[in-house]
Amino acid sequence: MADTLTIALSKGRILEQTLPLLAHAKLTPIEDVQSTRKLMVDGPVIDGVQVRFLIIRAADVCTYVEQGAADMGISGRDLLLEHRPHVYEPLDLKIGRCRVCVCGPKALVEQGKPQSGSRIRVATKYDYLAEKHYLAQGIQAEVIHLYGGMELAPLVGMAERIIDIVETGSTLKANGLVEEETLYDISSRLIVNPASSATKRALINPMIKQLRDAVQRREVA
Ligand code: PRP
Repeated sequence: MADTLTIALSKGRILEQTLPLLAHAKLTPIEDVQSTRKLMVDGPVIDGVQVRFLIIRAADVCTYVEQGAADMGISGRDLLLEHRPHVYEPLDLKIGRCRVCVCGPKALVEQGKPQSGSRIRVATKYDYLAEKHYLAQGIQAEVIHLYGGMELAPLVGMAERIIDIVETGSTLKANGLVEEETLYDISSRLIVNPASSATKRALINPMIKQLRDAVQRREVA
């Protein structure tokens, strides 16, 4: 029997919505993971197995789980679509809801979508998704990778479009941009390392069941 079970959580805005779901599954960290500077925090001991949490950047969760450094994790669907890790995705947690959209300056978007055969510069952190999107339309896209603040790129003339997360739309509005097209609806997903899924089944399956129950309760509340 394994002696630890490691769950990778992402820092930031999703963590606040994740903790009540974990609490329902009796997976409460022993420290306040929102304020600690520790990157690894203990959780409960279940059937003699120490649960521990990794508190890491959202984009790194799928890497830790794919590598087996974490048995399970919570990752946005956007990052799963972009990085395509070899992990199981047994549960939609229905938190962190937003969408991945193509956006641009209002005046440009009003001129209509770029034509097949045209060229476009697109700023994004989703290089793969951007290339796939424009390739499918026969548009030559120069993908400019940025790590954040994508909305700035069209304002300074570096790109004609961005592909980014839109939640409330307030960042777009504040920067004079509009949505052209929604590419994907996003929410946070529970992901599981395939080997862990087999070797730690007796621990992981009841956790998935309890998390599923927590999601359903939250939906009807
Ligand atoms: C995200 C995203 C948008 C913004 C969308 O950025 O990249 O900029 O949130 O949210 P809204 O539609 O509610 O305005 P985040 O705040 O995560 O920071 P980042 O730009 O550094 O990625």
